[in-house]
Amino acid sequence: MKLDWAVEIAGTGLSVPAHVVTNADFAQRLDTSDEWIVQRTGIHERCMLRDGEGMLGMATEAGRRALQNAGMSAAEIDLIICGTFTPEHPLPSAACELQAALGCRWVQAFDLSAACSGFVWAFITAAQYVVTGLARTALVVGVEALSRVLDMEDRATCVLFGDGAGAAVIRASTDARRRILAARLGADGSRGMLIWVPAGGAKEPASHRTVAERLHYMRMKGREVYKFAVSQMCDIIHETVAEAGVRVEDLALLIPHQSNLRIIESACEKAGIPLERVLVNIDRYGNTSAASVPIALHEARQGRRIKPGDLVLLVAFGAGLTWGSVLMRM
Ligand code: ACO
Repeated sequence: MKLDWAVEIAGTGLSVPAHVVTNADFAQRLDTSDEWIVQRTGIHERCMLRDGEGMLGMATEAGRRALQNAGMSAAEIDLIICGTFTPEHPLPSAACELQAALGCRWVQAFDLSAACSGFVWAFITAAQYVVTGLARTALVVGVEALSRVLDMEDRATCVLFGDGAGAAVIRASTDARRRILAARLGADGSRGMLIWVPAGGAKEPASHRTVAERLHYMRMKGREVYKFAVSQMCDIIHETVAEAGVRVEDLALLIPHQSNLRIIESACEKAGIPLERVLVNIDRYGNTSAASVPIALHEARQGRRIKPGDLVLLVAFGAGLTWGSVLMRM
């Protein structure tokens, strides 16, 4: 959808656990190898929480750093949205816990569950609050503790994911050129079981049986997700730029969800975007779901890969199935 919203990113931050797990670490205890993982995914290592650490710690650190980067205080935030499907607790929401941890005022705070699309959806939701005046300054966080829902005996999933958090502070533009120009969001629930956690929800609460049958872990039909991801990513890139009335060649940087290097390469080749204009950091973090786009966004800003006036496209897809994009002039 074509938009023309005067919204800007004031600051970004990230936080990942200190504990790094390499492909060699997995190869020591599973029937896998560094070569297989690198060739099929582009991942070399990922960060994982240790016992006693949690997603709230990462979210708080990323949020604090984004505020510092924006030169703002927690008191200035009047909306918090957390994109996550691995909150610290089923109740209360991660966003409410984050509000208290950051020392924000008693502001509106809620979670948004859209798996790997979580940050992009939370970002566009927060932007609507800013545009309508329901919020002045929003903290948007993508955060996941995926290691808590991975079956560490399943080589087809456990090597793909990592833990982390990324955050952005957004507000009404202080420079009229900075705008959100287009966004696309969608979902296809009929393919929900391509990536899912069978138990632990209201249908199958935790029981001895669900634990014994390992039903609390993420399950994924990788090959089908792969096909969906390549075609959907390519389609939404084309649709989003077309709706904004710009061309793919005008994009200074694409920041895609870091799901698999092969998915990013194939989709970008089909879409006609050279890899020099794509932010890739999956080699160091793996797939961090909702955290992947804001972590990449922060690294792009820190690495000076975004200049004032650049057109930047955020694109994500994930469980649900869900997908989303946001095109911004920075
Ligand atoms: N090490 C060695 N062999 C493995 C491993 C491993 N870690 N994992 C699977 N294999 C084996 C399989 O058992 C299979 O063996 P077989 O041929 O004897 O049956 C073989 O490798 C090929 O398996 P495929 O699943 O067909 O391999 P593929 O090339 O499709 O790669 C992968 C698998 C990496 C999972 C890929 O399909 C993929 O990236 N899919 C998309 C995942 C994704 O993007 N998810 C994003 C959403 S996640 C979310 O929203 C939370």
